[in-house]
Amino acid sequence: MLSKQAVDPAKRRSLHGHWSSRMAFILAVTGSAVGLGNIWKFPYVAGQNGGGAFVLVYLACVLIIGMPVMISEILIGRRGRRNPVATMALLGAEEGKSRHWQWVGGMGVLAGILILSFYSVIGGWTLAYVFKSGMGIFTGADAAAVTAVRDNFIGSWKVLGSFHTLFMGLTIYVVARGVERGLEQAVRFMVPALLVLLVVLLGYSISSGHFGDGLAFMFTPDFSKLTWDSVLAAMGQAFFTLSIGMGAVMAYGAYLPEETSILGSTAAVAIADTSIAILAGLVIFPLVFANGLDPADGPGLVFVTLPLAFGQMPGGVIFSTIFFVLLSFAAWTSAISLMEPAVAWLIEHHNRTRAQAAVMIGLLIWAVGVGTVLSFNALSEFKFLRGTIFDNLDHLTINIMLPLGGVLITFFAGWVMCRNSTADELGSAGALYKFWRFLARFVAPIGILFVFLKAVGLLPDLS
Ligand code: PHE
Repeated sequence: MLSKQAVDPAKRRSLHGHWSSRMAFILAVTGSAVGLGNIWKFPYVAGQNGGGAFVLVYLACVLIIGMPVMISEILIGRRGRRNPVATMALLGAEEGKSRHWQWVGGMGVLAGILILSFYSVIGGWTLAYVFKSGMGIFTGADAAAVTAVRDNFIGSWKVLGSFHTLFMGLTIYVVARGVERGLEQAVRFMVPALLVLLVVLLGYSISSGHFGDGLAFMFTPDFSKLTWDSVLAAMGQAFFTLSIGMGAVMAYGAYLPEETSILGSTAAVAIADTSIAILAGLVIFPLVFANGLDPADGPGLVFVTLPLAFGQMPGGVIFSTIFFVLLSFAAWTSAISLMEPAVAWLIEHHNRTRAQAAVMIGLLIWAVGVGTVLSFNALSEFKFLRGTIFDNLDHLTINIMLPLGGVLITFFAGWVMCRNSTADELGSAGALYKFWRFLARFVAPIGILFVFLKAVGLLPDLS
């Protein structure tokens, strides 16, 4: 059992190496945050929930809940310098409280495995569309033709499963190479490439003639469209897009050099992530309106409407290919971080090499992912609770497990860790620190629980 003074946390080193610079860390967390959540999920969830009002709630959730949770996760990660399970146990004991806090880390590892199981299927779908776009399949195609391409693709478990396998293979490859050699190099190239490509696409969407419609849809709030279920979806989306509530950011924080500012890094990542989501919306919605498509189309928004739009524009083959390459890269860097907590845990607890751990966890995730592959074909009629296996995994992880993890993580940082420990990690006891602590102790946990209770109807309306 560790006594309080057993180790000076400032001297503790991660077993997996450290980021070479502050920029490397910011890039890595940005690479984790920016992914299918921004470009595939944000537009369709915003579309389904009526646009403007949903976007406002989402932005508010990022600001007053997401950022304090992310700061808490990084500071816990850096102080513990272990995988999320061991870190929570270690810090729980060090603060003179319970080692059982490790279960929060455990839930995160599980959430990462479950999320990646379906994330990889969508990632594979994205990869497949790189090839389809490149071959010019969508050129001049009408809605029926594009829908047929999609239905044929996801309708075959063999094809969908093959691309899921390819995507998991790529993810295992980078994770197996480790922090310095794999992740950092991958991210350094991908994040800037992503930004450049999005800006190119933005130029095209501005020239589509319907930019004003897209803008109005995203920023004119209609609160009559907002239910507590959509508020929960907006909050879940904030967690999902920032990669928080499951230990990914905690695992990356474990490799963060001592002198790097956690508050500054968090602000940089949140700004980058939010801008890219908004940018993606600004690319996608004008194209949707320019082509008379439906913003509430659902998960198919990217995979049906965009190829259709691209197919009708000059140079569409190139734009479309670039777009799906971009989306695959973004998905890849996120997938890596979804796997890292589980892999770090297996290495530390069971003495595995990084390569062995990556392959073992990867195979497990691949196998769970078969459930999602089949949700689009053989088992598409097998529905319970929220729908297919995929629908249930999606709701359980994004709208329940991530916010729940967020409550527990901020509660831990705000109430279980003493003021000295957190002030030590955040490097100041000034006004910003006090503001974070207030958000972490009161606003974030109470806000999350409130939305939960409202969404399941346990809190009556006062009006
Ligand atoms: N933030 C990623 C995205 O937007 C998904 C993710 C969630 C990654 C949780 C890591 C942890 O696509």
